[in-house]
Amino acid sequence: MANTAELTVDGKSYEFPIFEGTEHEKAFDISNLRDQTGYVTLDRGYKNTGATKSAITFLDGEQGILQYRGYSIEELAAKASFLEVAYLLIYGELPTKEQYSTFEDSIRRHTLVNEDMRKIFDGFPVNAHPMSVLSSLVSAMSAFYPDSQDEKSDPDGHIIRLLAKLPTIATWSYKRSLGHPVNYPKNNLDYISNFLNMMFALPVEEYKVDPVVAEALNVLLILHADHEQNCSTSTVRLVGSSQANLYSSISAGISALWGPLHGGANQEVIEMLEAIKADGGDVGKYVDMAKNAKTTGFRLFGFGHRVYKNFDPRARIIKKAADDVLGKLGVNDPVLEIAKGLEEAALHDEYFIQRKLYPNVDFYSGIIYRALGIPTNMFTVMFAIGRLPGWIAQWKEMREQKEPIGRPRQIYTGATLRKFVSIENR
Ligand code: SDX
Repeated sequence: MANTAELTVDGKSYEFPIFEGTEHEKAFDISNLRDQTGYVTLDRGYKNTGATKSAITFLDGEQGILQYRGYSIEELAAKASFLEVAYLLIYGELPTKEQYSTFEDSIRRHTLVNEDMRKIFDGFPVNAHPMSVLSSLVSAMSAFYPDSQDEKSDPDGHIIRLLAKLPTIATWSYKRSLGHPVNYPKNNLDYISNFLNMMFALPVEEYKVDPVVAEALNVLLILHADHEQNCSTSTVRLVGSSQANLYSSISAGISALWGPLHGGANQEVIEMLEAIKADGGDVGKYVDMAKNAKTTGFRLFGFGHRVYKNFDPRARIIKKAADDVLGKLGVNDPVLEIAKGLEEAALHDEYFIQRKLYPNVDFYSGIIYRALGIPTNMFTVMFAIGRLPGWIAQWKEMREQKEPIGRPRQIYTGATLRKFVSIENR
């Protein structure tokens, strides 16, 4: 393979080095394009632009492959705990027993949140969307741990604090929306059981964690843990590239994830499926509406992906888990059958086949969250809890690689130079 690419423009030829990664992905390195040619590239939505080199996650959209640090998502979902995967993503290797015990113990000792954060929380309207609360309180953490702004400070302490406190903060909105007292973390519970206890325990009765629920949540959090340079991760890296602190960078990622085209889609999917059910369950009608989006304005949430032009491997695992978990819990949710019907109809429709639109990670996840008792407006919060280790790992890698501040170029298309006209003469 040639190790340079040649570009000819305005009668001159230029050569640019070709970079090939460990999975044989190839890139033209155009770091000096403008200096050499006076041109920049245009790539709306960065569909063809690699923002960085990364050793964290590999995905192949054509083959439907997803690996964290070289381990397949299928193996990790079946054999690992979420905290093992968090350690793997952040530090690069699966932890030894001793490393895992230290990591888990450090997290356990930081699950309590400063009580003054509750004063900020109490200022939100009771019906505030949990994602607005989460992004605000995570940003507020930089005020409680101001040394995080010193880019020479060791991020490990802040990494542990974020992993430990996000689940605690996440449950506050839910408890308050029910008018229930918030629960405090319990040090005798593991990470996922602690979250479930804070979500569902009531002072008036003993709460027992259902192992089926805990295992389902473990798999879902692992499947959401990282996904290379997606919108919210790119946001975390861009904000962090200005040397903003970890809390502010993660808060920005939470805000980006909230969008309905990104992590917010898991809430949109359930609302869409409910609407289809309320409208008689005619999935063909909604497939047709999606095909005429320009007139109907309807989009099939949970379908399509910027990178996967094959089945999203996470969707395959979640779809199977949905049958398994609902069966074990004895939950009969009619929207599961509607979802399957919608998938079947879409996957046999030329519009979807031609555009390679398959179910993505958000299509079935909400059905499981709902069966676990998690309310719809908390679905994207669950995505954020799962994605947190990935965001942290990517931020840490960006800092360790000493990436330059992110600052894209543009092509200006506005008015050319003109004289100011006083208001009397306009
Ligand atoms: C996530 O990037 C990641 O890795 C994200 C993520 C992660 O783990 O971080 O995987 C998580 O965000 C998953 C995606 C969740 N979003 C949704 O489910 C929302 C619905 N999906 C779409 O909005 C869309 O598919 C995107 C946003 C996911 C991708 O958008 P692209 O790559 O910009 O594709 P596009 O909008 O240009 O669509 C290409 C064509 C268009 O038709 P034409 O202009 O060619 O006629 O496909 C059509 C689109 O109209 N299309 C859809 C569709 N998605 C794309 N048509 C109907 N329903 C859809 N869902």
